[in-house]
Amino acid sequence: MLMEKPTFYITTPIYYPSSNLHIGHSYCTVAADVMARYKRLRGYDVMFLTGTDEHGQKIEQKAKEAGVTPKEYVDKVVAGIKDLWKLMNISEHRFIRTTDDYHEESIKKIFKKLYDKGEIYKGTYKGKYCTPCESFWTETQLVDGKCPDCGREVIDAEEEAYFFRLSKYADRLLKLYEENPGFLEPKSRVNEMVNNFIKPGLEDLCVSRTSFTWGVPVDFDPKHVVYVWVDALSNYITALGYGNDRYHDYDKYWPADVHFVGKEIVRFHSIIWPAMLMALDLPLPKKVYGHGWLNFNGEKMSKSRGNVVDPAVLCERYSVDAVRYFLLREFPFGTDGNFTNELLISLINTDLANDLGNLVSRTVTMVMKYFDGKLPAQQDSDPMDDELIAMVNGLKDKVEAQMEAFQFQNAIAETMKLVSRTNKYIDETAPWILCKDEAKKGRLAAVLYNMLESLRVASIFLTPVMPAACEEIQRQIGASPELCTWESTQSFGQLPRDVQVSRGMNLFPRINMEKELAELDKLMKPEAPAPVKSEPAPGAKEKKEAAEGVASIISIDDFAKVNLRVAQVVECERVEKSDKLLKIQLDDGTGTPRQVVSGIAAWYQPEELIGKKIIVVANLKPAKLRGQLSQGMLLAADVGEGASVIFVSNDIPNGSKVR
Ligand code: MSP
Repeated sequence: MLMEKPTFYITTPIYYPSSNLHIGHSYCTVAADVMARYKRLRGYDVMFLTGTDEHGQKIEQKAKEAGVTPKEYVDKVVAGIKDLWKLMNISEHRFIRTTDDYHEESIKKIFKKLYDKGEIYKGTYKGKYCTPCESFWTETQLVDGKCPDCGREVIDAEEEAYFFRLSKYADRLLKLYEENPGFLEPKSRVNEMVNNFIKPGLEDLCVSRTSFTWGVPVDFDPKHVVYVWVDALSNYITALGYGNDRYHDYDKYWPADVHFVGKEIVRFHSIIWPAMLMALDLPLPKKVYGHGWLNFNGEKMSKSRGNVVDPAVLCERYSVDAVRYFLLREFPFGTDGNFTNELLISLINTDLANDLGNLVSRTVTMVMKYFDGKLPAQQDSDPMDDELIAMVNGLKDKVEAQMEAFQFQNAIAETMKLVSRTNKYIDETAPWILCKDEAKKGRLAAVLYNMLESLRVASIFLTPVMPAACEEIQRQIGASPELCTWESTQSFGQLPRDVQVSRGMNLFPRINMEKELAELDKLMKPEAPAPVKSEPAPGAKEKKEAAEGVASIISIDDFAKVNLRVAQVVECERVEKSDKLLKIQLDDGTGTPRQVVSGIAAWYQPEELIGKKIIVVANLKPAKLRGQLSQGMLLAADVGEGASVIFVSNDIPNGSKVR
């Protein structure tokens, strides 16, 4: 009787078709592809879903600016995204577009079902809306009055709208995290959700808009379109045929085994999405994994900063496999990583050219040279081989444990230890000496066989990451596909003793670091900042540009309007119910204490600041943050994801002017 394969359903976020995708976007899709390939190798029936999130005001605006219809606009960008996945060797997957008819049909049904069940009701929306993020925010969620995700201006929005009863799910969500600790990973993301969003109080979610039309209409009230996140999140089930006849795999694959998502959209996947599913009486996904971001030279990648790294350029220069390897080997999946060209080149040179590539070419060359490409079956083993053999035999469990935990970096590291150990084994056994003695031919053959066998196993473990390169390694070492199954890594010695090797290309040529860095610098010259299209509110343009690090030119007189003073931190404490804010009492030399509330709590402990001297903008209009008066702001530099406060020497008297 034929056993049914176990299933594995993995998804990436569906991407906004708003611009060319950069290497950060590719990160998640490559990781999901590695996982999908790994599971297939282990015998799973894998459903791998990705796609594009095509509705919303932002797309409508962009299409208008480009003078085309929204559909024409997205069609073009989506074609480019599909090409990118082809280039990055993304394996068999289903690609959903939220403009696909079947998806739209399902969304209408989902919305109606929620309405009929009383989970959605009609009301009036008054609040803050971040257009670039397509996100509604409550006043309390804003940071310094701006979108907490992207730091940009939000707008006041008021309109008749439908609301989803999200607030009633707070307790069930808390229970979900508590009873099912694997639901949201890494663990740190759970604290963030609980403390920043659920505990401060969930509000009902506005789930329809009337101020634009590019969306799925609510079929029983067509002047409303469905909120993009309800539309987008549902893709994970509509793509399986929930509410439509296009596909019929819902029963087979749902609930998903894992949704891979970037950290800034964990909130939508671990609060709104499970609440929607609870409201629909559907099972929840087994896991949401919130990965970190790839920054570039310590800064967030963004088009306006001109620091986006184009994956197509890197793949063309170093091969798709090398880029895939770098993405997963260099950065732990759950935390942010800093992409630099130096890191990329240096990893290719050390791991791929020196260690792996070199091992392949040394091994094949020696089999060619000493045995004309085919080993004799008569081989003499030696106890000194035992360590290498034991290492191979123990590796499968280690690699699997890391892969199951999505620790790609560690899984690769385990395999690369075998590659290094094998290189060391060559030095220990010195085949170039053995070959001189006819009596030692059997021993020489055994040594070369062990090298080939290590390479076979390493290449299988690396196949999900570097499919093309590993296939080539296997071809060169004479390991036919049936000898390269995942299960075959269980035990050493699967290659026939009289294996035949074939010469092949150099898999990973060494790169000249200095020359290449210069080339890359030329290729990655910052683009001119994108022009600001819509007419922003007075002052908003400057704030937006400042937030993005693109300063406008101002006169010295403008600068003189800013009153910068040295001040000393006298007291400092956390603002209650806020993870972001610190309340700081300053001595600014005027004799009157000054209180400043600053969003730096994630990077500084209150006690670290006490006694330090900082620079304060002393003539900023006072504001209230979380009910606390803030009279000015202190200067800090953006460093990667964080902020680094500018401290000044304690010798400078309080109140000194800075200019
Ligand atoms: N459309 C939404 C997702 C809806 S899912 C139901 C969206 N799209 S996006 O195009 O802006 O982002 C897609 C994914 O790319 C997100 O997971 C985001 O975190 C990820 N990344 C964007 N820039 C990134 C880096 N620099 N590094 C790593 N991932 C990044 O959000």
